[in-house]
Amino acid sequence: MSSQTQIKRITVSKISAHKGAEPLVCLTAYTAPMARLLDDHADLLLVGDSVAMVLHGMDSTIGVTLEHMIMHGQAVMRGSKKALVVIDMPFGTYEESPQIAFRNASRLMQETGCTAVKFEGGTRMAETIFYLTERGVPVMGHIGLMPQLVNVKGGYRVVGRRSVEWSAVEADARAVEEAGAFCVVLEGIAEPLAKKITKLLTIPTVGIGASPTCDGQILVTDDLLGLSEHTPSFVKKYADLRRQIGQAGQAYASDVRARRFPGPDHVYGMKLVKDKKTG
Ligand code: KIV
Repeated sequence: MSSQTQIKRITVSKISAHKGAEPLVCLTAYTAPMARLLDDHADLLLVGDSVAMVLHGMDSTIGVTLEHMIMHGQAVMRGSKKALVVIDMPFGTYEESPQIAFRNASRLMQETGCTAVKFEGGTRMAETIFYLTERGVPVMGHIGLMPQLVNVKGGYRVVGRRSVEWSAVEADARAVEEAGAFCVVLEGIAEPLAKKITKLLTIPTVGIGASPTCDGQILVTDDLLGLSEHTPSFVKKYADLRRQIGQAGQAYASDVRARRFPGPDHVYGMKLVKDKKTG
């Protein structure tokens, strides 16, 4: 038996046990180095379809494909040991039928080794959530502001700021739970409604632009690091890497142009090799 203790990944049931307990720490990750840096701190790493905008410079999340998600999912799995890894199902890979959703979710799991998938939709996706969970695919739900609906909604709008909207969002939350999701993201939901849904459900809620009372919080990592060009108002910046990277790039450029870099410490000298004949 190996003397090394194997670090076990956090399981779906451990995530469920956070309901009403210590808040879940969730973050996005798309690459192995970022996953390595966050693994010690996060309970759950989400390979979000936000990768479309954050890393690939797309205008929305619509353009990301299953192949993109598999590639980023594999990188995050390689970089992490402990956190539960969830991969977002891209637009067009799950809406058509539960069977197609299962085929694509099983590809994500088999080709990356991730534990679970996430996709957007409440009541309209309940049948698919049930179909997948019954067949061994743990599902993280996602309700409220659903970025993949950007073209029908005409933008990204916070939901539940008017009380007439509440019943539909509550119905979505109930449907996701009843269908078997192990937790649910509440995105862009007015605080009092997010609080009410968190009380209503027995599965953990994970808020983003939602409520401090949620059972966990998630942010796009690039936003909290200050790497994004525009930072949404619900984000707290924990670093200002955009400025630091700009400054580092500028300092490097001026060193190269002034021949200050590379210096003597940054070049390879010759190895001293004794001549056999002369000794
Ligand atoms: O794609 C993503 O990063 C997400 C989070 C914002 C929840 O869905």
